[in-house]
Amino acid sequence: MNAFVRMAGSIVVTAFLVHLLIIFLEMVWYRLPSRKAKNRVSEEAGKGSISAEGANDALQTHVSGSAEPQKRIAIITGASCGLGREYALRLDRKSPDIDEFWLIARREEKLRETARGLGHPARCYAADLTAQGAVDELAERMRSEGVSVRYLVNCAGYGRMGSAETIPEEEQTGMIDLNCKAAVRLVNACLPFLGEGSHVVNICSTAAFQPFQKLNIYAASKAFLLRYTRALRMELLPRKIMVTAVCPYWIRDTEFIEKAETSEGSAIRSYPLSSRVSSVAALSLAGIRAGLPVVTPGIVCTLHRLFSKLLPDTVLQYIWEGIRRI
Ligand SMILES: NC(=O)c1ccc[n+]([C@@H]2O[C@H](COP(=O)([O-])OP(=O)(O)OC[C@H]3O[C@@H](n4cnc5c(N)ncnc54)[C@H](OP(=O)(O)O)[C@@H]3O)[C@@H](O)[C@H]2O)c1
Repeated sequence: MNAFVRMAGSIVVTAFLVHLLIIFLEMVWYRLPSRKAKNRVSEEAGKGSISAEGANDALQTHVSGSAEPQKRIAIITGASCGLGREYALRLDRKSPDIDEFWLIARREEKLRETARGLGHPARCYAADLTAQGAVDELAERMRSEGVSVRYLVNCAGYGRMGSAETIPEEEQTGMIDLNCKAAVRLVNACLPFLGEGSHVVNICSTAAFQPFQKLNIYAASKAFLLRYTRALRMELLPRKIMVTAVCPYWIRDTEFIEKAETSEGSAIRSYPLSSRVSSVAALSLAGIRAGLPVVTPGIVCTLHRLFSKLLPDTVLQYIWEGIRRI
């Protein structure tokens, strides 16, 4: 028995160390300039279009496929409030490789408020991302302007608390339309415009780590987004495009919880140890910039992630059954 426990323990520890090593190697890989970028920079240095000193900087930022300088943009969905707005404000302060922000959500006036808080030029696209054609229109604008997308942050999302019997079907499928389908469509639209060093960030949730009764469709939609994001990362690794899933725990100071609460009042009674949008944005941006695959910005979501790998779903669901009734 002792030998079995020791063997199981060493398998788990070895697997964890391999996991850390892979993440470290991926981070190194992202930072090594590709041969294509090196060739382009030496060609330009040869032509005298950049100085030898500038070559190093150019290696870090040169991502376009054409010789023309492209406008480098950050696309942030859900930027009218909450976490999306916080990302816009923080990226604005500390991202020298962005020329313009493209902010997307339905409420135009709220988007303009976000835009007014930015030092960079910003465009506001008031659009319902679940509507057919909203993403096509954006893709057309990217094509006509020949932009380079440095950041795509899929932050627009919503949830509804309650059971399958009480949440109207259009609300249930609406969550899938926004949290899953719109995110996938936006990634597809941006793929031709992403380059070496670009970031794709999908805001998932700690709800992605296990099934959650009374938050069923929302949790399932975020589980989809998490799996999708992890596989997309591997697909885009050769292009050195960094793909990150962010999985926060409850954030109390956004509109999310208020909108998610429904008439089924007892579905979830409290949000113990919930986090704040500023700390979630700050911690997750550090992980996104580092190029991590999954970021859990806080202690609760990090512990949840760990336990979701150790405990069976049935046990986790009964623990949740207790927590949601507190
Ligand atoms: N707050 C939490 O407890 C929590 C925890 C974990 C994960 N998350 C995730 O974090 C992300 C941001 O949430 P938040 O807390 O910042 O919530 P929030 O304050 O409600 O913000 C949601 C954003 O999504 C936009 N949006 C909603 N429906 C849309 C649609 N059909 N088309 C375009 N935009 C739409 C909203 O703007 P308009 O209303 O103007 O369209 C808003 O800007 C979400 O993906 C959420 O699932 C939140």
